[in-house]
Amino acid sequence: MLEVEDLVIRYGPFLACDCISIEIKAGEIVGVIGPNGAGKSSVVRAIAGLVRPTSGSVRFLGQSTLDVPVHGLIRMGLSLVPEGRGLFPQMSVEENLMMGGYSLNNKLRRKELVENCYELFPILKERRNQYAGTLSGGQQQMVAVSVGLMGDPKLCIFDEPSLGLAPIVIQQIGDTLKKMRDLNLTVLLIEQNAMLASRVADRIYIMSAGRVQFHDTPASLMQNPEVIEKFLSA
Ligand SMILES: Nc1ncnc2c1ncn2[C@@H]1O[C@H](COP(=O)(O)OP(=O)(O)O)[C@@H](O)[C@H]1O
Ligand SMILES: [Mg+2]
Repeated sequence: MLEVEDLVIRYGPFLACDCISIEIKAGEIVGVIGPNGAGKSSVVRAIAGLVRPTSGSVRFLGQSTLDVPVHGLIRMGLSLVPEGRGLFPQMSVEENLMMGGYSLNNKLRRKELVENCYELFPILKERRNQYAGTLSGGQQQMVAVSVGLMGDPKLCIFDEPSLGLAPIVIQQIGDTLKKMRDLNLTVLLIEQNAMLASRVADRIYIMSAGRVQFHDTPASLMQNPEVIEKFLSA
């Protein structure tokens, strides 16, 4: 579904990503973990067409995406829930959802998707007329996830959905991510929270200093002494 090959991203002279290759098959949940500044967000921003890579290629559904504009990628079924959520705080929950579905011409399908989101997060139905900015952090993250789903995506990318949330809420986010499989979605999950990622992902890439350092199943990574020492012993 997604093939990232030898991706290099520079900001001026600064090398943020060095030869990143990541592959995601349809139906998989793939995690990318690593410390702050590793280059994770840069990779997903390049995938979503928000950053122009210096070199390398990104293919989505067999098509090279680097010349496809952002709205074109959304129409193809690529959705990014950005780090920091990107909600409109002065708009209601439901208005935020509608913004997420603006690229859909089919009104019926849009309604159906709103209902799906409310099924996934019943609390959002209760709060649908409330300003998004007045919700708790966890609820705002639920809105952000829903906005991502409103584009009717095939591939949904979540950039650090657990950031700043309480452990119990992180648990809920994990449960929700696992449900994405039943919704026929393919997921790319960016996380600093290695435990959350290993709970939900089929495979994990570990990034640091702009490179993929390891790539394996969560079970194998957690038995790798080098991985434990460098990334899991915090
Ligand atoms: N727009 C930008 N301009 C310059 N440097 C940037 C920009 N965005 C990110 N960086 C730098 O690139 C590196 C990787 O950042 P980022 O991709 O956000 O990493 P992560 O998401 O893993 O924390 C960091 O050192 C960051 O400061
Ligand atoms: Mg980031």
